[in-house]
Amino acid sequence: MTHDPAWAPLLPTEPVTFPPDFLWGVASSAFQAEGGDVPNDWVDAARAGRVPPNPGNGFWERGESDLALLASLGFRHYRLSVEWSRVEPERGRFDRAALDRYRRLCEAARECGITPWVNFFHFTHPRWFTERGGFLARENHAEFLRYVETTARALSPVVRHFHVQNESMVYVLIGYLLGQNPPFVRSRDAAFDMTGHVIRLTADGARVIRSVDPGAVVAGIEVYLDARPEDPAEPLQREAAERFDAWYHGTFLEALATGWVRLPGREPEEIPHLRGALDLYGFNYYSGTSFGAGGPGSFRERPDAPRDAMGRHVFPRGLEAGLVRVASALPGLPLVVTENGCPTVDEGFRIRYVAAHLWALARARARGADVRGYFHWTAVDNYEWLAVYSDARFGLVGFDPTTMERTVKDSGRFLQEVIRSGRIDPARFP
Ligand code: FCB
Repeated sequence: MTHDPAWAPLLPTEPVTFPPDFLWGVASSAFQAEGGDVPNDWVDAARAGRVPPNPGNGFWERGESDLALLASLGFRHYRLSVEWSRVEPERGRFDRAALDRYRRLCEAARECGITPWVNFFHFTHPRWFTERGGFLARENHAEFLRYVETTARALSPVVRHFHVQNESMVYVLIGYLLGQNPPFVRSRDAAFDMTGHVIRLTADGARVIRSVDPGAVVAGIEVYLDARPEDPAEPLQREAAERFDAWYHGTFLEALATGWVRLPGREPEEIPHLRGALDLYGFNYYSGTSFGAGGPGSFRERPDAPRDAMGRHVFPRGLEAGLVRVASALPGLPLVVTENGCPTVDEGFRIRYVAAHLWALARARARGADVRGYFHWTAVDNYEWLAVYSDARFGLVGFDPTTMERTVKDSGRFLQEVIRSGRIDPARFP
């Protein structure tokens, strides 16, 4: 039981249990873990001094032993992504060795009892695709779908679980509305166009994956940003939060439920094969978003809410509320928390954060949300985009940058015990 007054209201005082068939996994992405001198837009942006360079954490070379280590902690599921610029470094030229390497990593996962979940897009594009205008140019979509098909074929039947893309709405928000990440566009128009594009790609990608393997399990993945006014009595703040929510969460949820995409200033568009396109909804969650007098920030429920190394306040109730909301917006579609974790170098903080969010997940289940599993972000510390390898470390496992040697952190041991026993035990909270 914790004695820290800021954490006490966020943590259970009684044990919380999970069913024996609950899925316990870890999530990662290709570029964040592999890094390296690949021909993609992030490497180019780093050369231009616009984002930090990424030497990688060594997963590309030592993925097999990382997976064995995770299996020894009890994890039975692993999310990885494919770096498109490795498998198709030039337009139309697929690199067999790179595809074989991904297949080998997925086989290695299976050999140690881990189910691989493969994602095709996690924020990076090959240089050639960026030069052609990326997803914003609709005629380019066929290029992406050809890569999805070729890769799915190469990985099938070792892999059955696929995601077309990770957090496509965040990609639109940060890359096309705020202009902070590649391709550094700041345009409402482009962001609305991209919203339609990523939704269409979800449907098209799922169709391509099923054409390769009709038995594939296809999930979409979006991060829940839980938009709230800082002061609910302030109409302007309420309105800002509602407007953001309607675009960011509302458009996608409505589209998945009805097949219709409705965006401001655009004719509604029907994508009939979006209905029923997914077998699972992948729900990522980190913290809430507040809309205050000074613009958007990190939502804080109480003045003493704990804060992580990226300045975000811990707010597990956002996870609970979001799971319940998505479950009721998409009846019959099971959910999996496909990412949750926190940037910190304080293991006590990480353990409390994980426990608080697992409790919130259990509450959402008790309220009827069909949540089947939890993937922790992430396995081995990795490149946290603009925050690099600073104190913004999300791993359950650390590594020595010289020897690349891995060390399981206290939080890794904590989750190992949760998985083994099927419950969170308050007696173990630091
Ligand atoms: C998510 C991203 C992932 C990682 C975590 C911390 O939004 O999917 O790449 O950066 O945040």
